[in-house]
Amino acid sequence: MTLEWLPRDNSHKDHILMGSEHWGTEAPCTVYEKKPLVSPDGKEIDGLYVAWIRLNNPKQYNSYTTEMVKGVIAGFSAASQDRSVVATVFTGTGTDAFCTGGNTKEYAEYYSARPHEYGEYMDLFNGMVDAILNCKKPVICRVNGMRVAGGQEIGMACDLAISSDLAIFGQAGARHGSSPDGGSTDFLPWFLSMEDAMWNCVSCEMWSAYKMKAKNLISKVVPVLKQGDKFIRNPQIITDTYVMDGEIVYGEYKSGSALKEARALVKELPKDFELLDKAVNGVVWTFANLFPGCLIKAVDGIRAKKKFFWDQSKLANRHWLMANMGYEALLGFNAFNTKKITGKDVIDFIKWRQLIAAAEPASMENFAEVLGKPQS
Ligand SMILES: CC(C)(COP(=O)(O)OP(=O)(O)OC[C@H]1O[C@@H](n2cnc3c(N)ncnc32)[C@H](O)[C@@H]1OP(=O)(O)O)[C@@H](O)C(=O)NCCC(=O)NCCS
Repeated sequence: MTLEWLPRDNSHKDHILMGSEHWGTEAPCTVYEKKPLVSPDGKEIDGLYVAWIRLNNPKQYNSYTTEMVKGVIAGFSAASQDRSVVATVFTGTGTDAFCTGGNTKEYAEYYSARPHEYGEYMDLFNGMVDAILNCKKPVICRVNGMRVAGGQEIGMACDLAISSDLAIFGQAGARHGSSPDGGSTDFLPWFLSMEDAMWNCVSCEMWSAYKMKAKNLISKVVPVLKQGDKFIRNPQIITDTYVMDGEIVYGEYKSGSALKEARALVKELPKDFELLDKAVNGVVWTFANLFPGCLIKAVDGIRAKKKFFWDQSKLANRHWLMANMGYEALLGFNAFNTKKITGKDVIDFIKWRQLIAAAEPASMENFAEVLGKPQS
């Protein structure tokens, strides 16, 4: 006897929560594309896809606007709920940047001095990190260029990172009036040593992809510069020597005329992401050939450790970041946003500390003291 007599509903339900209203094609926007799953020998696999979520704002280094944040949430939600999607790739448009965080023009011109508004924005930002960490398909960060500030935070929320060797990694918050606690203070100490996490988080130094590979932040680095028909490694970075004069130099920037020549070469040579895409597809193909349920259970098990501190801190951080939009962020983001008017992209930090040392109140007069002045 079979079980054909059991009443069953065999229509297919649609679990996708949002439509395409938060995606676009014209910058600034988030682009959502379903690309066919492709085998290593280039064969497209019927009915299976990879969801590509692309930050598309290249003129502003793929910084995310409020609308783009909604697009990212919608993208990860769709990839998560679409049964034909095998994996998610998170990337940016062009060759310069994966993402340099929140849009500093919006931060300066709209959100600064409007803390409540920024609190609502932060709810979306937290939703974006949660959407990445909750996606029921493994997430690969395809680091097509610099991954800085909030870009670093959403990049670290991904499960694996494969990077162009021209990319740089770092934070900008403490320079521009924010604290990198939209994920970086939670994630960096898991990836790097505590000392490295501390310095990378606060110093605002930018570290090369090779250095970050050596320090375990990312899985793989591939060259993207093409000289004739050959790929060459980023000539600005030391990649052929590990130790010099007793110091580890692998992944550090060259200096002097060697750096100058290398910069010129980087400008001149074409960039080709063939190896980057091959490496990303290789990982996706590995995922495709695993039990989906066992795979995502393991992924979520690792993510749980990343989420541990993120979940504990995200609400308190949201409230602090909101309040800070009327204080240091007002100064920092306006300084960055007006650099073409004043010739300076940061405040006068020493003057600011002197005002604090004199117990001066936070007033518009004192803010004017430390911001640059219009040049003409
Ligand atoms: C990433 C960074 C270190 C790169 O420095 P750089 O190579 O010297 O490049 P620039 O600062 O000249 O940036 C290039 C352009 O992108 C814009 N840009 C860079 N990051 C941006 C952002 N997050 N939002 C909006 N515009 C941004 C710059 O204003 C500049 O525009 P312009 O060409 O009209 O002057 C620097 O741009 C930076 O610190 N960006 C801000 C990061 C930040 O504070 N993010 C918000 C906190 S999450």
